[in-house]
Amino acid sequence: MLRVEPLGSNVTHESHQEEVAMATRTEQQPKAKDTTRELIDGLNEDLRGEFQAVIMYRLYASMVQGPWRQDLRAFFTNEIPEELGHAQILADKISALGGTPSTEPAPVKIVKEAKAMLETALEAEIETIDRYVRRRQQVEAAGEHGLAVRLDDIIADETNHRDEIRQILARWP
Ligand SMILES: [Fe+2]
Ligand SMILES: [Fe+2]
Repeated sequence: MLRVEPLGSNVTHESHQEEVAMATRTEQQPKAKDTTRELIDGLNEDLRGEFQAVIMYRLYASMVQGPWRQDLRAFFTNEIPEELGHAQILADKISALGGTPSTEPAPVKIVKEAKAMLETALEAEIETIDRYVRRRQQVEAAGEHGLAVRLDDIIADETNHRDEIRQILARWP
């Protein structure tokens, strides 16, 4: 049986629905903006870490002394292109999200002994892996699934760096 509602109540019902829809839209828009801004901030933290790694490996390669200089110089030098590649992925994404990529590296720790260089680099790689694993969760939550896949590749690279440094230190005299 057809139910006839008074004209006035129908209008009220529709306008109420519109109000609810508008309220939902205005609540969601700032949230999406916050998520993107937080993601840009996080990726800029990672970018500063990559700039730090590039500078650290470049300086350690130049400064390292002792009987293993040639090997360690080559080892440190070989890390640089991968860290720069990570910086490229991050800077591209920050820009694509509407952000401005950071121009500052995280502070670089300068040490003199070859072993201290390896230990410092190992610590930096471990911290970096932890940070990227957390970032990956943030990226997934933001719906950036393509970036999450790129972070998987970066995490695999940093894990290789960590493991190789551990292998060198494992038999250090
Ligand atoms: Fe890296
Ligand atoms: Fe690395």
